[in-house]
Amino acid sequence: MCYLNTASIGLMPLSAQLASERFARQLGLYGTTWFDEPTEVGALDAARRTAAALLKAPVEQVAITTSMTEAMSQIAWSLRPPTGTNVVSVDFEFPSVPYPWMRVARETGAKVRLVPASEHPGELSLEAVAEVVDEATEVISLSHVQYSTGYRFELGALADLAARHGAWFVVDATQSMGAVSLDLSDGQIDAMLCAGYKWLCGPFGAAICYIGRRLLERLDPPFVGWKSAQEPYTMDASRLRLARSPVERLEYSTMAYGAGVALASSIDYVRSVGVEKIQEHNLRLGAVLHDGLVELGAEVLSTREDGHRTGIVTARFPGLDGEEVAGWLNQSGIIVSPRFGSTRLSVHFYNTDEDVALALRTIRAILQRRGPVAPERSGRGAGP
Ligand SMILES: Cc1ncc(COP(=O)(O)O)c(C=O)c1O
Repeated sequence: MCYLNTASIGLMPLSAQLASERFARQLGLYGTTWFDEPTEVGALDAARRTAAALLKAPVEQVAITTSMTEAMSQIAWSLRPPTGTNVVSVDFEFPSVPYPWMRVARETGAKVRLVPASEHPGELSLEAVAEVVDEATEVISLSHVQYSTGYRFELGALADLAARHGAWFVVDATQSMGAVSLDLSDGQIDAMLCAGYKWLCGPFGAAICYIGRRLLERLDPPFVGWKSAQEPYTMDASRLRLARSPVERLEYSTMAYGAGVALASSIDYVRSVGVEKIQEHNLRLGAVLHDGLVELGAEVLSTREDGHRTGIVTARFPGLDGEEVAGWLNQSGIIVSPRFGSTRLSVHFYNTDEDVALALRTIRAILQRRGPVAPERSGRGAGP
């Protein structure tokens, strides 16, 4: 197959698969004789460390959570924007970005304002966001890269917009971390969250949550568990003495520690390839894909503008349902996602020029046939 679907699930490097398997096997065979207290205490250290290095952020400001959604919910319930304030997001966002704020708003009476983008997804911009932000905006909560079209916001400009209005800036980087070079050393961003299983090529069950210095003073995670305590292993249920760092408290209980171990390994792998190199590669292949689709008569919803484009390319085909085309492509060995009447393709560092050429050849054949075609045999070896 030709895998152009990292925006849905990234492929895991063998090293990360083995790390995950080794963890499960050791735990299964040896229980506490292997996974003893010190091992459990340090189980997520490697993931935090490598994630912090990837973000150029202090490790004390990084937690490993179970999903992006969990981290977003913890932050939303912690900030609880009050009545009279608003939270700004986009009507076309990945749902877990606005939903937690909508749920909190039900409780507090705050408003969630959505930038209208669903009618013209290709026209999303900083200006469109700025139009709905005002003095009552408490939070701007957006994805750095939109899952639907791959549109990349300029983080610095959004951070400035938030700062000018005294708003928190909470970023979901699930569609960018690992594919777009990030540097949080200037401390402009209040929170950056990321699922592990896309561009970081990690597993389900482990995500990254970075908390900026300003938010450290305000964050007070609402979920608590035995690990929220200052001295978790004393197991003193008679009183709740919280750990001083709210970042530590985002990790409030046990989790699929093996997922954290595998995530550390996959981030190490991505870092060893080099995110800047990956970004350059993905942008180059994304442009070839974009131009090829235009040549085939597709309406490409993703921007072609440098600075805003990524390796995600979403297209519609005149007279056809893009979701059906996505289905035909999958049956023809080109793995992509159907999204809102469109076909979403995404390229990462393991994709090649030949993958893109094969996808374009297959799309041409599918458009002629109006149905799936026999998968072309890949010239690549199957590997060990
Ligand atoms: C932008 C974005 N955020 C978050 C997620 C998923 O987050 P999680 O599964 O970790 O809650 C996705 C998955 O498609 C996504 O596209």
